[in-house]
Amino acid sequence: MIAVDADTATQEAIALDECHVAHNYSPLPVVAASAEGAWITDVEGRRYLDCLAAYSAVNFGHRHPEIVATAHAQLDAVTLVSRAFHSDRLGPFCAALAELCGKELVLPMNSGAEAVESGIKVARKWGTDVKGVPAGQSTIVVAHGNFHGRTTTIISFSDDDTARRGFGPYTPGFRSVPFGDADALAAAIDENTVAVLLEPIQGEAGIIVPPADYLPTVRALCTQHDVLMIADEIQSGLARTGRTFACDHWGVVPDVYLLGKALGGGVVPLSAVVADRAVLGVLHPGEHGSTFGGNPLAAAIGIMVVGMLRSGEFQTRSAQLGDVLHARLGELHGRGVRAVRGRGLWAGVDLDPRLGTGKQISLALAERGVLVKDTHGSTLRFAPPLVITAAEIDWAVQRLAAVLAERGAGS
Ligand SMILES: Cc1ncc(COP(=O)(O)O)c(C=O)c1O
Repeated sequence: MIAVDADTATQEAIALDECHVAHNYSPLPVVAASAEGAWITDVEGRRYLDCLAAYSAVNFGHRHPEIVATAHAQLDAVTLVSRAFHSDRLGPFCAALAELCGKELVLPMNSGAEAVESGIKVARKWGTDVKGVPAGQSTIVVAHGNFHGRTTTIISFSDDDTARRGFGPYTPGFRSVPFGDADALAAAIDENTVAVLLEPIQGEAGIIVPPADYLPTVRALCTQHDVLMIADEIQSGLARTGRTFACDHWGVVPDVYLLGKALGGGVVPLSAVVADRAVLGVLHPGEHGSTFGGNPLAAAIGIMVVGMLRSGEFQTRSAQLGDVLHARLGELHGRGVRAVRGRGLWAGVDLDPRLGTGKQISLALAERGVLVKDTHGSTLRFAPPLVITAAEIDWAVQRLAAVLAERGAGS
């Protein structure tokens, strides 16, 4: 056998990406070849503990056996018929998801951004048809620091300059107020406001948990002013924070849930808008749709995912192991870590910026076998698959401690 340079396969794969993949991401130099549970193996055979879980799309772990078995079975039956016909998987999926959410109807889509776009359309239509807002006059209140995806309308109400610059003209009809400030939100609502759209815990912003009374106050304001409360639970929902929905931490039930990521079991893109008939009932044939939305393969996987969530096992795991994660990360306070935020197996970690950028620390961690993602500046995000073990959490945090120490933390 001819010995090859240890990194040849990695370098070749990255060189091909550089040539032919649009440069809209800046990935770490790790080339995944296979994955199982909480672990990813690269093209060199090196193993990494995945502490990002594809931004919560892999909540149940890579290739969860029951989800993969469901997918295989459905591949042998029917995968796509479009919504031009019925399929025997869509009704059961929507019924199960509606029940999980305590709502009546489900609008199935594919990506998270599509769910958000769909939620915006539904809110505007509801505003015109039900609330009586003059056509074209509706407003939606959003929060500073939001991340809801990257379509033209969604970036129109983002305050991330990188996501916006050069992509105008922007969609009007949005008002942005500071996240966590209920007075500012109240002041932004007027008679033409149809919705408040929020992430209950802001993910991309750095896992920002709002003040305790914020979401209950938002809920009350929405009810008082006949405004839809739309919770974007695409990243925070489906057991990530230790509850089925992040809103559950505050006992808040929004009018509309936006779901995605983990709903597709880490196998297919599957997203949804979930609400009562009084809201989603405003859509009629031809007003909205997607060729792949609610396809039988995705719906079959969605049924399995909802079934797994119904037992509460993953929510409990996330809550219990989240305590371990937060305790271990908390021990690094003053040793390179300045703050730790989050709920369940979801943590935003502010590092001492003198030790390096979040990207540099992520790179150093990848070299030690731990995959995480930086958000802004020197903040790291930990969101491992919920099948991770306490021992693996210890191992990952020890590696973070070693990287920070190497860079002079605590000295
Ligand atoms: C809260 C939230 N909403 C929407 C999206 C967009 O989802 P997608 O990338 O599937 O379009 C994301 C993606 O990270 C998200 O975190």
